[in-house]
Amino acid sequence: MSNVEFTMDNQWLPFTPNRQFHKDPRVFVAADGMFFTTHDGRRVLDGVSSLWCVAAGHNRRPINEAIKRQLDTLDYATAFQVSNDQAFLAAERIASLAPGDLDKVLFCNSGSEAADTSLKVALAYHRARGEGHRTVFIGRERSYHGVGFGGMSVGGIPANRKAFGAALLPRVDHLRFAHDPVNHAYVHGAEPVWSEDPLVELEARILPLHDPSNVAAIIVEPVVGSAGWYIPPKGYLKRLREICDKHGILLIFDEVITGFGRLGKPFAADYYGVVPDMLNFAKCVTNGVIPMGGVICRGKLYDAIMQGPEHVVEFFHGYTYSGHPVACAAAIATLDLFRDEDLFARAGTMGTALGDAMHSGLKGLPNVVGLRTLGLAGAVELAPIPGTPGKRSFDIFLECFHQGVLVRAAGENLVLAPSYVVEPAHIDQMVSTLAAAIKKHA
Ligand SMILES: Cc1ncc(COP(=O)(O)O)c(C=O)c1O
Repeated sequence: MSNVEFTMDNQWLPFTPNRQFHKDPRVFVAADGMFFTTHDGRRVLDGVSSLWCVAAGHNRRPINEAIKRQLDTLDYATAFQVSNDQAFLAAERIASLAPGDLDKVLFCNSGSEAADTSLKVALAYHRARGEGHRTVFIGRERSYHGVGFGGMSVGGIPANRKAFGAALLPRVDHLRFAHDPVNHAYVHGAEPVWSEDPLVELEARILPLHDPSNVAAIIVEPVVGSAGWYIPPKGYLKRLREICDKHGILLIFDEVITGFGRLGKPFAADYYGVVPDMLNFAKCVTNGVIPMGGVICRGKLYDAIMQGPEHVVEFFHGYTYSGHPVACAAAIATLDLFRDEDLFARAGTMGTALGDAMHSGLKGLPNVVGLRTLGLAGAVELAPIPGTPGKRSFDIFLECFHQGVLVRAAGENLVLAPSYVVEPAHIDQMVSTLAAAIKKHA
């Protein structure tokens, strides 16, 4: 129970229907392991690792202790013109986990900042090499790259763009959404095999339209996360890599959700065997406990930009809190936990259990039109209520919450993505609660 009295007059809630929330508040005051405590004293199972962040579970002592130690040692130091030891240590640890030759870490504080940072690195890299005409970015329909103007522009979720059209970046195009709801509505672990090549349009239409020599970068989420866990067709990311290489275009993987173990490997790049030129991360890097994001770049990007007189900044970009020592200490402790408890492997094992449970417990229920599971995450897709898109999934989300399980409504999908420390009994609780809610809202 909360020992703090609060009113709800002043907080404008993010990505939340505020008026509905005020009538039916959902407020957490404590968390431990897999469970939250609400302001009215109820326990709620965290079925989504608090927006794909809390990979190691809540209230982990080693992370908390590292943060407290760091606060007592170096609380904060500006990141510009000077730095701090934790930032170098964290960058070293992150680079050592990164795929291929990605080894330069630019820190920021969120996935949105990582998206904008990576787009700016792409422009700066091309310009430094005398190819400043490469200014076109290509994203993908239904992708999410945060809420900054850059990330929003390459992002492809219509509702996130609708009100801001005039301010979106020019010279942005989008790949088609790569999901086949007819032949591949149900996916369990495997990559869907398409009979047609979903990237034909990139080579045959989008690149010729802009001319490939004008394209700076293509940015994709390896697995589409926020829109509802859509798994790429077999070979899609490899082919994207080949096309980028052929035309000198940079490939950016936004691994804000897939990074740090969600697929049972450090990154989706490892899972799919494709190395991007930049890899964006956030969320799990600190177990969600302290905001942190970043972009891991290939050394060649850094090298190309290191030009000009030595007293002049080479890349005019950064945030007051880039490489914040407390966030970096949290990241190092989190990476230690992942290693010591072999949590990425555990995500893989428990992912199979989650996938099995979702497919056996949810397929065939009323209105279920798709079910996609991969790694430790899965989405069940429902037919919308005609005329009120998103209402059925929102109602099911509310019902699950009131029955003690936090799930995520994403469009017409309900998503489960628990912490890697999840136990079989938690999976049973999540899936049975979701099944009951789907039936109730049929
Ligand atoms: C793939 C991806 N990129 C970027 C973001 C934005 O991250 P943030 O909310 O930390 O700005 C998210 C958030 O969910 C994400 O899933």
